[in-house]
Amino acid sequence: MFEECSERQLRSIAKIARVVDAPAGTAIARVGEPGNEFYLILDGTVSVDLSGGKPVSLRPGEFFGEMRLLGGDPRSATVVTDTPVRLLVITRENFSVLRKEVPDFTQILLVTLSRRVRHAEQRADRMGAASAIL
Ligand code: CMP
Repeated sequence: MFEECSERQLRSIAKIARVVDAPAGTAIARVGEPGNEFYLILDGTVSVDLSGGKPVSLRPGEFFGEMRLLGGDPRSATVVTDTPVRLLVITRENFSVLRKEVPDFTQILLVTLSRRVRHAEQRADRMGAASAIL
């Protein structure tokens, strides 16, 4: 995610982020609850439990927790670690700082969100088709 960042930008990210380790089976976010942090996966994998259908697995380099910070609504899904994980954690205040300091960050968020919407629509279509057969 930060591949294209300058040294100055990387230094400011290092200043505002903290690294957290969590064992497998930890719920990092719970659907319907508030939350004030954004997470980038450095190591390990997590599962995003969406209502109906298979959970979505996220890998190193991917992130979660942005929807609550961008939209203000409660967490949209429960996110549980599948393996021991190392996460880069950014608080709400610093999330705004990051968006100002690293303009590409907002672009990455937008691209990822549009992919997630498309994916969610495809899942909904598949579930609709499956229930029509049943
Ligand atoms: P947030 O709503 O803050 O907390 C739960 C997170 O799960 C959400 O932000 C996203 O980061 C992530 N999430 C929700 N829906 C999907 C999806 N369809 N694919 C991948 N991640 C998702």
